[in-house]
Amino acid sequence: MAYYQHPLDVTSLPAWQALRQHREAMQDFSMREAFNSDDKRFNEFSLSSCGLFLDYSKNLITTETRDLLVKLAEEVGLKDAISEMVNGTLVNASEGRPALHTALRRPVGERLTVNGVNVMPDVHRVLNQMTELVTRIHNGLWRGYTEKPITDVVNIGIGGSFLGPQLVSEALLPYAQRGVRCHYLANIDGSEFHELSEGLKAETTLFIVSSKSFNTLETLKNAQAARSWYLAQGGSEGDLYKHFIAVSSNRDAAVAFGIREENIFPMWDWVGGRYSLWSAIGLPIALAIGMANFKELLSGAYSMDQHFQTAPFEKNMPVLLALLGVWYGNFWDAQSHAILPYDHYLRNITKHLQQLDMESNGKSVRQDGSAVTCETGPVIWGGVGCNGQHAYHQLLHQGTQLIPADFIVPVVSYNPVADHHQWLYANCLSQSQALMLGKTRDEAETELRSKGLPEEEVERLAPHKVIPGNRPSNTLAMERISPRRLGGLVALYEHKVFVQSVVWGINAFDQWGVELGKELGKGVYQRLTGGNEQPAEDASTQGLIDYFRARHRG
Ligand code: F6P
Repeated sequence: MAYYQHPLDVTSLPAWQALRQHREAMQDFSMREAFNSDDKRFNEFSLSSCGLFLDYSKNLITTETRDLLVKLAEEVGLKDAISEMVNGTLVNASEGRPALHTALRRPVGERLTVNGVNVMPDVHRVLNQMTELVTRIHNGLWRGYTEKPITDVVNIGIGGSFLGPQLVSEALLPYAQRGVRCHYLANIDGSEFHELSEGLKAETTLFIVSSKSFNTLETLKNAQAARSWYLAQGGSEGDLYKHFIAVSSNRDAAVAFGIREENIFPMWDWVGGRYSLWSAIGLPIALAIGMANFKELLSGAYSMDQHFQTAPFEKNMPVLLALLGVWYGNFWDAQSHAILPYDHYLRNITKHLQQLDMESNGKSVRQDGSAVTCETGPVIWGGVGCNGQHAYHQLLHQGTQLIPADFIVPVVSYNPVADHHQWLYANCLSQSQALMLGKTRDEAETELRSKGLPEEEVERLAPHKVIPGNRPSNTLAMERISPRRLGGLVALYEHKVFVQSVVWGINAFDQWGVELGKELGKGVYQRLTGGNEQPAEDASTQGLIDYFRARHRG
């Protein structure tokens, strides 16, 4: 099978050059004026798909900008790249793998051949295996070593084996099934294990060791700690299988840990960790919300996959979001992008999108190994509104950096309290409005004068009150969060990230950068624990090792 080939360096393409010139022409573009002079701007720059409504009218764009960006997508061969990804080309060339998370949401009856094998029966077999487990646990048929039903499920996993499942199971809390609580254990920090295990009983707890590689330090250490805790609580080696299951593509390692073959849910190397919540890595989601809702989640993502593959680029939500990111990152020097969910249940989406985007597109070489010639993935950050308004939004409004933001907000709350939701929604809208409108010097002065301040005070204070405005944002609204809409929302961002990787010519599906720290970690550990008395490679690290060794107890 051929490795994925990327066309020319994107910066040499005609559309890139045209965008450069267009950027110059846009230097004095004012969103305020654009709205004032065009009453169709909102309609022109908004669209609906998969239960999501995207307003991207508060951006530094005209229809010409969009046309040029779409042209760029065409020139990089995005259409072919999308079809190569969903059809199993080795788009992850450095690892020699396809990236087929979209296969995980395909309905029964579809075919997808990878290396001559139709993988779809396997995908649906694992879904059936998940259904069986979920049904047994929900019906109290899966019992612990004292014959009591399982009440608590602890997912032991990190990165993609944690962030996606945690986001979805917590975002869909209104769909939670009674009787089973889901917990997450990710970090190697003993305090996390301590705090969690305090509230659990071994006899009614099921641990899911969730690791594609079954080789991740934090997960293996936590799995061992959980096993020791289970044995110390009264569980026996013989009953271990009632309390430990695994999701992994490394069956042998899971068996060596002590997990029974029939309790290992397979994964495939064609699913990347940060794209894996749709696979058996999503077991804690299915246990939290039930299998029917899990399938709704898949079908929401599938609808977004269809939209992504078929909608023309100028009406294609993931493509538009991606191109807007390229516009700001490559032509307006934006270094970061804020994700601002205005919903308590979606509070973890920023963390998931951070891994999805930064681990995928934090790359400096292109698929062919040559250095990139433009900026690639931005820093993704943010958090839940309104809280952020009282923390970091100040920098969004008056800081020196241009930081595009995505506001995500449902119209209907699951928990209406008085008029709180109207205020929450109002705050979301007023933030994007303030970012866009800002406050001019004239407006600031008028406001100060209206308070009766003397002219010298007006002069002194006005500069501080000026808000530059013209700061871009997208708003993604939806009626309310449901499994289907959430599936579409997460898939939307997966595809956005992929489109950007195609534009930049990088591989969104490897993550070699995280390996070096893991390798060096072993050497540092040896030196901390006396297993290696050779000095560390550098004096700073050695100094910090000495600091630890002089003080560490326990
Ligand atoms: O360290 C990075 C990483 O490989 C992520 O890409 C992945 O999601 C995470 O570690 C966990 O990996 P695993 O599921 O193999 O334990």
